[in-house]
Amino acid sequence: MSPFLLTRTLPEDATEAALRADVQRGLTGTPKTLPPKWFYDAHGSELFERITELPEYYPTRAEREILLARSTAIAAATGARTLVELGSGSSEKTRHLIDAMTGLHTYVPVDVSESALTQAGQALIAERPALSVHALIADFTADLELPDTPGPRLVAFLGGTIGNLLPAERAEFLASLRALLAPGDALLLGTDLVKDERVLVRAYDDAAGVTAAFDKNVLTVVNRELGADFDPDAFDHVALWDAGNEWIEMRLRSLADQTVKVPSLDLAVHFAAGEEMRTEVSAKFRKEGVRAELAAAGLDLSHWWTDDEGRFALSLSTAR
Ligand code: SAH
Ligand code: AVI
Repeated sequence: MSPFLLTRTLPEDATEAALRADVQRGLTGTPKTLPPKWFYDAHGSELFERITELPEYYPTRAEREILLARSTAIAAATGARTLVELGSGSSEKTRHLIDAMTGLHTYVPVDVSESALTQAGQALIAERPALSVHALIADFTADLELPDTPGPRLVAFLGGTIGNLLPAERAEFLASLRALLAPGDALLLGTDLVKDERVLVRAYDDAAGVTAAFDKNVLTVVNRELGADFDPDAFDHVALWDAGNEWIEMRLRSLADQTVKVPSLDLAVHFAAGEEMRTEVSAKFRKEGVRAELAAAGLDLSHWWTDDEGRFALSLSTAR
């Protein structure tokens, strides 16, 4: 069997400290916010996988279509021996890329979700005995350190997860990522595209209520980790299109006037009836915007592929 290594770059107490800081800042700010990376405990990761199968949630299917059509071209263009994947989740779509990368030596999935990494890693080594897998439990927005593996490297950031960062966070993230790469290394970036508002809103407010459960899961995480007493039933899931910022915003709307206690932060947080707390932005992109954001970080866009319906794009760029 091929080697499977699981490394935690952030100690568990640092993860808890980061959650405490985010919750303190987010619940005392106006408007209230919580960062989306805290959705992904084991249950949140499972809910996300269910989202990818919903009829309304097109991004996963659209990106898989592009990967099926273009993985051979990506492998040829990069000649990569190491594939790093940020926010790898189940690594399910990535298998198409891995199969096409004939010279691949090591796959490095990076995620905050230990359960997702363990499941994906175990499955991969069973299916691909020649592949070395070095999984990293890490926050890709914090100081990321990559293992010393053979180049050239291809970093894949799929699913449109870059859209869950705010514009200033994206710029900082891309600059830090570029600093980890050598000239000639490549970035494969998945970006969801601007489209009809109704299609977008449906994708984030599905009829079966899976996205609503995913949204409310952040409250369960804060309850469990920080001893808070959020009642998920006292909030409604909201998805709306912000046309100015060209992003979908997910929010939780308080159904009543209520006070939530977070004992480990010594906080009592008042929510007015109808008050909305932002839990996620999911930015939608256009080609020239992606090119400009990459260029500002020292990455030159070389390829731009979309699915047949033009809903989602994969771009390949090279470090200058
Ligand atoms: N790439 C997969 C999964 C997307 S879901 C796909 O395309 O289907 C987003 C993934 O990113 C989740 O697995 C989540 O745990 C991870 N994630 C979110 N924020 C993160 C962060 N700051 N650092 C590392 N992983 C993160
Ligand atoms: C992970 N990320 C790209 C998803 C998205 O579409 O923004 C997370 C998600 N939120 C609601 N549904 C899916």
